[in-house]
Amino acid sequence: MALYSEKVMDHFRNPRNVGVIEDADGIGEVGNAKCGDIMKIYLKIDNDTVTDVKFETFGCGSAIASSSMATELIKGKPVAEVMQLTNKAVAEALDGLPDYKMHCSVLAEEAIKNALEDYYSKHPEKRKDSENE
Ligand code: FES
Repeated sequence: MALYSEKVMDHFRNPRNVGVIEDADGIGEVGNAKCGDIMKIYLKIDNDTVTDVKFETFGCGSAIASSSMATELIKGKPVAEVMQLTNKAVAEALDGLPDYKMHCSVLAEEAIKNALEDYYSKHPEKRKDSENE
């Protein structure tokens, strides 16, 4: 069996949503101290929905594929749903990652959560809104 699924290879070779959002509503950056890889996620949020998302990843192929897939999974989704995204869901959407590459998908989950935290820190009233739902 091939080490990487076709989906991983596809998202690695043709990553979706690469780039920067200049006027992002939330930015999240995380790094893995062990491998030194870095991932940055930019969110545009309107009406409690992620209307646009872009990423910059300086890292391994699995990290790039994970960022690309994660951005596809959260685009157009309500913030409350985006908050629930797990690295497992990202890896599953990629038809799996080798065990020793699972930590690469963790970067995507963490970067998105950091970006949402950044958004909430600028709009504390929004956090209350989503908690009251
Ligand atoms: Fe560092 Fe994949 S090896 S994120």
